[in-house]
Amino acid sequence: MQFTLSAILASFVAVATAATVPVSPAACAQADRFGDITIEPSTLSPGENFTVTANFTCAIQLGVNPEHTDYYIEVPTNNNGYEPPILIARRTLATPPIDSFNATLPYANYFANASYAFVLDTTYAVNGTNGSPYSQVGETETSITITN
Ligand SMILES: *[C@@H]1O[C@H](CO)[C@@H](O)[C@H](O)[C@H]1NC(C)=O
Ligand SMILES: *[C@@H]1O[C@H](CO)[C@@H](O)[C@H](O)[C@H]1NC(C)=O
Ligand SMILES: *[C@@H]1O[C@H](CO)[C@@H](O)[C@H](O)[C@H]1NC(C)=O
Ligand SMILES: *[C@@H]1O[C@H](CO)[C@@H](O)[C@H](O)[C@H]1NC(C)=O
Ligand SMILES: *[C@@H]1O[C@H](CO)[C@@H](O)[C@H](O)[C@H]1NC(C)=O
Repeated sequence: MQFTLSAILASFVAVATAATVPVSPAACAQADRFGDITIEPSTLSPGENFTVTANFTCAIQLGVNPEHTDYYIEVPTNNNGYEPPILIARRTLATPPIDSFNATLPYANYFANASYAFVLDTTYAVNGTNGSPYSQVGETETSITITN
């Protein structure tokens, strides 16, 4: 009898744990709301291949469901005016919550003294003040090093 009761209690605990494990909002910072991006390797020269991995686990949890994603190489600060964003890929999130793909660094005009960032623009739907949907764009970035 006692054994049965503890078995039942144990199964309640297991169910409760299973129900709470996949979603843990406390672990998601607002900074993660447009996706978390990693570039491997993060030091690159033109013609070199690299792997981009964007993780939208927290984004989706925070209500950002990507309609499409644009990936750029940019010089966000101290741009000399000759460093426009370079589009690397425009994608849709085929396998949520992860978008991973390989790309090749273009033979663009890079400046040795510039600070390059790999930028992810996430386009997602929100509801307007009258309830009609429109698209908003959020941005997140990670720094990369480009060597010629
Ligand atoms: C980069 O990837 C492309 C496409 O898969 C491949 O053809 C090319 O050989 C790769 N380049 C290098 C330097 O590995
Ligand atoms: C994606 O992000 C979530 C939340 O930070 C993490 O638990 C998970 O391991 C990440 N997945 C990958 C494949 O990196
Ligand atoms: C990217 O390239 C690496 C190394 O060549 C390969 O192991 C990996 O499967 C590729 N990833 C994708 C998403 O194509
Ligand atoms: C890099 O050098 C160029 C040419 O000397 C200059 O125009 C530009 O402002 C510099 N950029 C930064 C980020 O220092
Ligand atoms: C917008 O409103 C619709 C209808 O109420 C709802 O199903 C949807 O989840 C809402 N979208 C967002 C992004 O809040």
